Amino acid sequence: MTVRLKPKALERVVERARLSPSPMNTQPARWHLDAEGTVWILADPSRRLSIADPRGFDMRLACGAALEATVLALSELGLGVARTQHFDRGAPASPVPGLEPVARLHLGESTAPHPLAPLMDRRFTWHDGFARANPDQARDLFDWARLHEGLVLVLDRAEIGRLAERNDGALLRLLGEPDYRAEFRRWLRLGAPDEPLVDGIPASALGLSRLGTRLARLALSPRAAPLADALRLTERLFAESQRSETATAILLFARPSLESPLAAGRAWLYRLLELADLGFQAWPMPALLAQPEAASEIRRNAGIHDGNRLISLFRIGVPPRGRTPPRLRLPVARLIV
Ligand SMILES: Cc1cc2nc3c(=O)[nH]c(=O)nc-3n(C[C@H](O)[C@H](O)[C@H](O)COP(=O)(O)O)c2cc1C
Repeated sequence: MTVRLKPKALERVVERARLSPSPMNTQPARWHLDAEGTVWILADPSRRLSIADPRGFDMRLACGAALEATVLALSELGLGVARTQHFDRGAPASPVPGLEPVARLHLGESTAPHPLAPLMDRRFTWHDGFARANPDQARDLFDWARLHEGLVLVLDRAEIGRLAERNDGALLRLLGEPDYRAEFRRWLRLGAPDEPLVDGIPASALGLSRLGTRLARLALSPRAAPLADALRLTERLFAESQRSETATAILLFARPSLESPLAAGRAWLYRLLELADLGFQAWPMPALLAQPEAASEIRRNAGIHDGNRLISLFRIGVPPRGRTPPRLRLPVARLIV
């Protein structure tokens, strides 16, 4: 049985699916309903981080997460997916010029809401210090990680501290590259508070005070950058290790090397929703992986063998009670094309 999705239903689906994560909150996924009533997910290449993500791997991971979020949102409307076409290699002609086809969903039999679907509201990226997890939560986290192949939990405090320090070094090294710094600045929202915020990462999510925000704007500007670095202002503003060390664990997320970024992105979202269900939130720390020696040492220590690709590291912890970051998102009307 083929089911045609209606435009109003797509709006409801995108309202939910847009809550999926993306690098620097670039939100590259777009949705298109064709004349047959099938749903296309497309990537907007103008939203790719051309310096941090030259091959578009992270953009496609984010589109995979958006695809999974779409399937979950459809299930909340009782709509099942009969067939999913993934376009990782050899995409068909795009139904929307300038956008890259990612996947096409053909709707089918009705289905019950997926149990993870309501967690889309409860998952977020936490960029600040974590509260202490209680022993039950820590045990749940441990058991959960063992259920999934390719997940490795680092629980040793000294090792967490070491990884956190090394990640800071890697991050500062990246910020030392003018193009990287300019791109980072472009997606941070350090402007006037009345600026309408629909994408990027706001200063408040990074735990920056008003003064910190002004200093960050200065430190990231090309003219002041050398002085800010010499005065170690960049380090003081952007070093994360103190906050990272409050995490309950660092999670290594590896997937089979042959798997497409799209499929890995689907798994990425799933794992984050399961974590949210356990009361945990994640904060990616992939800067270390930009350094080949560090990346291979981490892989070796964690026993991640050659058939697997280490996709990211995450700090995992419980955010302080009652605190949630702003969820900046593009309006649905801009996401449906
Ligand atoms: C592929 C990918 C890479 C990411 N890399 C980072 C990162 O390096 N540092 C970070 O703090 N957040 C990272 N994030 C998380 C995003 O910043 C976050 O998803 C985005 O700001 C939207 O916020 P939300 O997750 O709270 O909805 C990444 C997310 C994805 C999907």
